[in-house]
Amino acid sequence: KRVAVLISGRGSNMLALIDAAGDPNFPAEIVGVISDNPDAMGLTTAASQGISTASFSRSSYASKEAHDAAIDAELTRLKADIVCLAGYMRLLTPDFASKWAGKIINIHPSLLPLFKGLDTHNRAIESGMRVHGCSVHFVTPELDDGPVIAQAVVPILPGDDSDTLAARVLTVEHKLYPLAVRMLATGKVRMQGDKAILSGVTA
Ligand code: GRF
Repeated sequence: KRVAVLISGRGSNMLALIDAAGDPNFPAEIVGVISDNPDAMGLTTAASQGISTASFSRSSYASKEAHDAAIDAELTRLKADIVCLAGYMRLLTPDFASKWAGKIINIHPSLLPLFKGLDTHNRAIESGMRVHGCSVHFVTPELDDGPVIAQAVVPILPGDDSDTLAARVLTVEHKLYPLAVRMLATGKVRMQGDKAILSGVTA
C-alpha cells in the first residue's frame, strides 16, 4: 500500500513510519510527505530520508475547500492508498474527509474519547487519572473523533509534568502508529459506520 503522511511540525511520528516502512516486510511504503506549513521541521527530515515532499500554505488558497483540493490533487498524484495525519494541525473539510473515509487515520496523544483537542497531557494530569496514552483513529470531519483502531497506555507518575508525560507518550506513539498502519494496510481493520472492525485479531 502507498502511504502519504500529512504533517504541520516536528514530524517524529512521520519518521517512525518512514523507519518502519524501511523494513522489507512492512506492508506499506511512504510515498510522500505533505505539509500545510512550509517551515515544518519534518519536511527537512523527510527530504533527508529521500522521501518526496510538498507544502501547501493555507494562506495561498482562497478557501479551506481550495486548500484541501490542492492537497487532494497531490495525494492523487502520489497514488496514495492511505493517508496518515501525524501532527497535522488542521481540521479537514467534510468533502475531503468523506472522500478518504476509511483510508485516513490520525494519531492523537490521549486515550480517546478522553481529552480531544490540545494540551492533552496537562489535562490528563489535572484529571487525577493514573494512566494516559495515545490513540490511532479513523478520521472524520469532527476533531479527534472517529472510530479508534488501536491505543497504547502509559502510567502517570508522581512528579510528572506535561513535558515528562508527553515524552513518555511519544515513545509509545512511535510504536503504535506503525502497528496501526500495518493493521490497515493488511486489512486487519476497516471502518464500518462509526465502528472500527477488526478481523484476524482475536481475544
Ligand atoms: C504527537 O503527539 C501527535 O500525537 C499529535 O501531535 C504530535 C506530533 O508530533 N497529533 P510529531 O510531529 O509527530 O513529532
